[in-house]
Amino acid sequence: MASQESRAHDIFNNPNIKTIYRAASRTTGPYAKVLVQQSGISKALSSGNLQLSVLDQACGTGVVAEALHAELAAVGTPETNWHLKCTDSSQPMLDAMADLVKEKGWQNVETAKSDILNNGLESEAYDYAFQSFVFMALPDSNAALDETIRIVKPGGTVAINTWIKVGWMDDVNLTTATQFPDLPQVTSNQFGRLMGDGEWDNPSWIENKLRDKNLNNIQVNPVSMTSAMGTPEEVAESSVFPMKLIMDKLWNDEQREKYSTRFFPAYVDQMINKYGKDGIVSSDWEAIVVTAQKPL
Ligand SMILES: C[S@@+](CC[C@H](N)C(=O)[O-])C[C@H]1O[C@@H](n2cnc3c(N)ncnc32)[C@H](O)[C@@H]1O
Repeated sequence: MASQESRAHDIFNNPNIKTIYRAASRTTGPYAKVLVQQSGISKALSSGNLQLSVLDQACGTGVVAEALHAELAAVGTPETNWHLKCTDSSQPMLDAMADLVKEKGWQNVETAKSDILNNGLESEAYDYAFQSFVFMALPDSNAALDETIRIVKPGGTVAINTWIKVGWMDDVNLTTATQFPDLPQVTSNQFGRLMGDGEWDNPSWIENKLRDKNLNNIQVNPVSMTSAMGTPEEVAESSVFPMKLIMDKLWNDEQREKYSTRFFPAYVDQMINKYGKDGIVSSDWEAIVVTAQKPL
């Protein structure tokens, strides 16, 4: 467990995380929009003069906050009708989030450091709790789910995005197949298991899990999208840490000895050849968009 915690820690506590995560957030952003739409929050706010308390756990660089502001502004809801708390365990991510709040001039957003596994937040305090692309990368996702349900009000909504298919792996596997055929091909499923526990890439497993927690109105929807992540250089920046995880966990000693220094430059060259140096890397992703309500 400790080693898995430190893996997430290593990846997301890098002081350059804002730059490193830029290409990744171009992929998570469109899914955050779908999650916010599926949550029904804009209907809840526009149907009455409500004051909603909203939480975005593992907020990263703020894709959920952006989706919420866009969706609620579009239905004419003023910021004074809702408050958003954005939490993350990584200080560099929280700094990036605070920069975004300042840049956008949002008045209804606060940021706070919190570990989703033991969040330290008040019980039954939030109408909506969003968790975008974190549950599949936790050492104890069941504890995180229990904690999330604890802090949501009765009748409140839990909203979760997780990956089925991570698109950047296609170019990694193409590099392997064409240049280093003795290295293993890596499936999204294998990669998911390196990051965390549970079967967060399996819609039936998720549905059963939420049913076991007695949640209502469970919606589990796989959604495919083609994502334009950025230039080969930007995608390479986002891939350094996950690629290191693959090398550490799925390659043997001999493979690491032979290919550790050669693989990454070959992967970048392969993307440059395929998309052009200033071209945009495009790949197919699939996520599971999950919403459910805590019973009244
Ligand atoms: C893949 S990023 C997702 C960020 C953002 N929600 C998005 O969709 O782009 C995962 C985020 O989870 C955060 N994280 C990882 N482990 C965490 C934990 N135990 N508690 C809180 N945040 C955590 C990371 O710092 C990172 O910001």
